[in-house]
Amino acid sequence: MNKKRKVRTAVIGCGVISELHLRCFAHNEQAEVVAVCDLIPERAEKAARERAPGARWTTKAEDIFADQAIDAVSICTDHASHAALACAALDAGKHVLCEKCLAVNASDLRKMLAAAKAHPELVAAGVFQHRFEPLPRILRSLIAEGAFGRLLTATGSLHTYRSDDYFKNDAWRGTKKGEGGSILINQSIHYFDLLLWIAGGADKARAFYANLGHQGVIETEDTISVALRMRDGAVGSFVATNAGIDQWENVLSFQGTKGRVEIRNDKLASLKMGDPADERRVSARIEKALAAAEKQFAKGRDYYGTGHQAQIDDYVKAILTKGRPYVTFADAAESASMVFAAYASAARG
Ligand SMILES: NC(=O)c1ccc[n+]([C@@H]2O[C@H](COP(=O)([O-])OP(=O)(O)OC[C@H]3O[C@@H](n4cnc5c(N)ncnc54)[C@H](O)[C@@H]3O)[C@@H](O)[C@H]2O)c1
Repeated sequence: MNKKRKVRTAVIGCGVISELHLRCFAHNEQAEVVAVCDLIPERAEKAARERAPGARWTTKAEDIFADQAIDAVSICTDHASHAALACAALDAGKHVLCEKCLAVNASDLRKMLAAAKAHPELVAAGVFQHRFEPLPRILRSLIAEGAFGRLLTATGSLHTYRSDDYFKNDAWRGTKKGEGGSILINQSIHYFDLLLWIAGGADKARAFYANLGHQGVIETEDTISVALRMRDGAVGSFVATNAGIDQWENVLSFQGTKGRVEIRNDKLASLKMGDPADERRVSARIEKALAAAEKQFAKGRDYYGTGHQAQIDDYVKAILTKGRPYVTFADAAESASMVFAAYASAARG
């Protein structure tokens, strides 16, 4: 690909999240959206007209894959279609950014990882936009450095609400085949991922799930509890539901032998260290990281979706520099694998 020209991108799937992808690509001066695609023609046409003027639209992803002028794709479709689209895109020589959850099950995930491995010349990135936010990043570094001592517990939760209509309006939602699950693989996957990523990963999961508020509407879980064994020996737990009364309440908490820290609704909620000098040092590191990010995103950016903007900028940069994206398929697959492990455990009881 000629380094001087922009990354010519197509967005596949023109539903809810595509608008944000299209907006972020429009903000990136080194990329341009040249095509959009959706099985539903009205959606593809509308996306081109409203969000990517000049881009062509199609209902067939194969048209995108066959177009030699397209360098990269962004996959914004339902979970079950990710694997086939991503593998076909990579085999056609396109870089791929795929929305979460990478795959609908472990077997599809393996296919995607194999396709990415078979094409090391292409960028294969998985969306986990919260990994680009400054607070999770600095906490991950601090925990890895041992600033909180030995990690003991990593706990998280998301309490949210999704109406029956939310599930009924799109056929893939709330189905094992189309969505793969519900609260864990979809709404709460961001916090599940952050919990694992900040703590340095997990290698075992045991889970219980239930459908407590959407009986007769979805076949998947709306409520889940996952017990985790973290890689470094700490224990973890994650609880989530989309049948409650809260719009979006999230908590992540990490306790080590030297101190503890809590994120509540994406912001630092508390920091307590056994040694006051440690507390001043850790607090200063966090403040510095937040201030640096504030400066970076302060001008000319829409605050809605700074994580997506940062991830799309990172994706474009990785393509242009032939570099590694911050979240590769393999990175995103770690959390996807733990989602599948939790589901397998819950299914077995
Ligand atoms: N990162 C985030 O914060 C975030 C937020 C919302 C959704 N998502 C993810 O984005 C993806 C899409 O979610 P959504 O809410 O936009 O779904 P949606 O149902 O609103 O849109 C999906 C679109 O994909 C189209 N589609 C399906 N298969 C296709 C194919 N083979 N070719 C072309 N078009 C196809 C559908 O017609 C639909 O218009 C999911 O993976 C979801 O988990 C991520």
